[in-house]
Amino acid sequence: MKAKVAINGYGTIGKRVADAVSAQDDMEIVGVVKTRPSFEARIAAGKGYDVYVNSKENIDSFNKSGMEVRGTIDELLDKADIVVDATPGNLGEEYKKLYQKHRVKAMWQGGEDHALAGFSFNSEANYEDALGLDFARIVSCNTTGLIRVLYPLDKKYGIRKARVTLMRRAADPGDIKKGPINALVPDPVKLPSHHGPDVNSILPDIDITSVGVKTSTTLMHLHAVNIELKETCSEDDVISLLGERPRIMLINSKDGIKSTAQVMELAKDMGRPRGDIWENIVWKDSVSFDRGELYLFQAIHQESDVVPENVDAIRAMLGLEADGGKSILKTNKALGITA
Ligand SMILES: NC(=O)c1ccc[n+]([C@@H]2O[C@H](COP(=O)([O-])OP(=O)(O)OC[C@H]3O[C@@H](n4cnc5c(N)ncnc54)[C@H](OP(=O)(O)O)[C@@H]3O)[C@@H](O)[C@H]2O)c1
Repeated sequence: MKAKVAINGYGTIGKRVADAVSAQDDMEIVGVVKTRPSFEARIAAGKGYDVYVNSKENIDSFNKSGMEVRGTIDELLDKADIVVDATPGNLGEEYKKLYQKHRVKAMWQGGEDHALAGFSFNSEANYEDALGLDFARIVSCNTTGLIRVLYPLDKKYGIRKARVTLMRRAADPGDIKKGPINALVPDPVKLPSHHGPDVNSILPDIDITSVGVKTSTTLMHLHAVNIELKETCSEDDVISLLGERPRIMLINSKDGIKSTAQVMELAKDMGRPRGDIWENIVWKDSVSFDRGELYLFQAIHQESDVVPENVDAIRAMLGLEADGGKSILKTNKALGITA
């Protein structure tokens, strides 16, 4: 029997997780929660997802727009083994009480604090520690991208220190409310950005500091990563270690991929759903040592890189697979990730 997964918060992340869960053979979507009868709600219903509302008061607006709803979130939670909460940040605390009332396992996204779940998840770094947990949090898109690179390097060569500059997309492509539209914004002005401490919620021993700059783009984040390793290795060693990772795609600027715009074009040409790219995109020819320190650039597709991690976390928390490596490969195969 397939594990039953509910999605609360069917937006940028929630709708992608719903489709990724549906692609697996050991889990299925039992319903998604919407607050209003938007185009996303209609498309969810069209895809065959049962649509529930977050409160009784909102049923009327669905009825008036001719959309059928299956019931309220309370009814959905009673049918689910686990709920993926992808509501906008800071609703988590309130919803936690509801999930506890319905005795359903729950996982949140990076907009919530580590303390809410008490456990932060990354597939390669700590899958086995999530086995059977009731609550977990999938770290943010940037933190997920950083851990995918830092964890294997630390394991193999040891990291003495990591210093990261994150050039962050200002808003998602469908978001017309946020900016800037013509500026670069140090965010925050006073370092560190929250990403370094967030990495430490999973890899507590890594000495990391990060700074962030909001940029006038919606496509992807770009990371400039600088690492001092404990053990000596070559550029080729780093390239081969990262190339073996299940969710890192190495690209070369000589192939004409010199920007995040071309990475997005690559994703579309690969036929990826919504033009998503679930892997870290590491420029192979950016991997270099200078004065003994490692440098590289990577691009992170903020809308989708956490999606496979959500699937693995479901598998771990429900005990569907004890081996993290096997779960990663299973998720990847179902999604078509061949990195
Ligand atoms: N977007 C990213 O780049 C990104 C990357 C990684 C992690 N995250 C994290 O993922 C989480 C979700 O972010 P997102 O970007 O997916 O946000 P989003 O696009 O705004 O989607 C969230 C959805 O939640 C729904 N919602 C609003 N209030 C709700 C409520 N009270 N109850 C149930 N649903 C409600 C909204 O849909 P309706 O009101 O139409 O139902 C909205 O579309 C956040 O923690 C965020 O930090 C985001």
